Amino acid sequence: MNQEIKKIGIMTAGGDCPGLNPVIRSVVRTAIMKYGLEVVGFNHGYKGLYHNDVVPLTLDSISGILPIGGTMLYSSNKDNLFDYTVEENGKMVKKDVSDVGVENMKKNGIDAMIIIGGDGTLTSGRDFSRKGVKVVGVPKTIDNDLGCTDYTFGFDTAVSVACEAADRLHSTALSHSRIMVLEVMGRYAGWIALNAGISGGADAILIPEIPYDINKVADVLKERAERGKNFSVVVVAEGAKPVDGDVFVSKTIDDSPDPIRLGGIGNVIADQLEKLVGLESRATILGHIQRGGSPTSHDRILSTRYGAAAVDLLMQGKHGVMVTLEGDKMSYASLEDVIGQNKAVDPEGELVQVAKGIGITFGD
Ligand code: F6P
Repeated sequence: MNQEIKKIGIMTAGGDCPGLNPVIRSVVRTAIMKYGLEVVGFNHGYKGLYHNDVVPLTLDSISGILPIGGTMLYSSNKDNLFDYTVEENGKMVKKDVSDVGVENMKKNGIDAMIIIGGDGTLTSGRDFSRKGVKVVGVPKTIDNDLGCTDYTFGFDTAVSVACEAADRLHSTALSHSRIMVLEVMGRYAGWIALNAGISGGADAILIPEIPYDINKVADVLKERAERGKNFSVVVVAEGAKPVDGDVFVSKTIDDSPDPIRLGGIGNVIADQLEKLVGLESRATILGHIQRGGSPTSHDRILSTRYGAAAVDLLMQGKHGVMVTLEGDKMSYASLEDVIGQNKAVDPEGELVQVAKGIGITFGD
């Protein structure tokens, strides 16, 4: 057991996702009950680290959070302390203020940090690790697009929500002989769309990894109509793009490290399909409903395993790493290897081939 570690700090940063609270709970319970450590949390991610917004985390303070969505430590997806906006001589300027973060960790007597986040958050985690902070990362994102791990927590809940939405769209599609287009999140990866599309019985799934030809999608839906199935459900990832075009950007957020926000492609596709197939079409943009609310039992278990494994790794003297799931085993990977990989759906992979085999079109 690593005797150097007596006190751990935790933070959640980036977009929230179901399972953050179960990770916090598992870290706190493992740290206290298994190892007799102290735990504190920084509120609002890296912003809280900069402002030393710290709270003690005890068995009492985390009690009851397991089924609750969001994060009791709050989150922020704008604050990168290595490129932080501060006021200097009346002007807003970008500066590396990461030393303030390191100082605040020292002030609080923190020996190691568990940082729960996606690519952006863990990039800063890696950079703090390069500065000598003992960091273990926990892979969070509904998008499931982080490298080195088979699954991120939050993904299963997002897929379950999207699957239920597809089910609900089916009954109204059937009643009105309509095409219902369901746009789901996922950034530049199609994991949510692929999994929700298969589990929700979609007739077409459009994902960023397989650029689509809308005419090919329309042909499949027309064939369905000719077979008497004059309704269809199409699941489209927000990052899907046509063979001859680019992604649909809904807005840009200037002070965000990742300024592009996708969204809106579902409306375009519904309009195009209405014209090409000749069936009335409607779009539903599921949005943040996929990120809110209670985590599934699968995500609660995965989050609990990730939290426990993160503390175990620190106590085994390992840091500069992220906990990972390999098959059914917990493992870890260097933060240096995790960052910058966008784990994409393999267009030749088994899941896509199974979907194609049961008649789902990807528009390719
Ligand atoms: O990365 C998670 C995610 O929900 C993406 O699926 C989505 O593109 C993005 O975050 C939305 O970000 P925001 O909450 O800033 O709108």
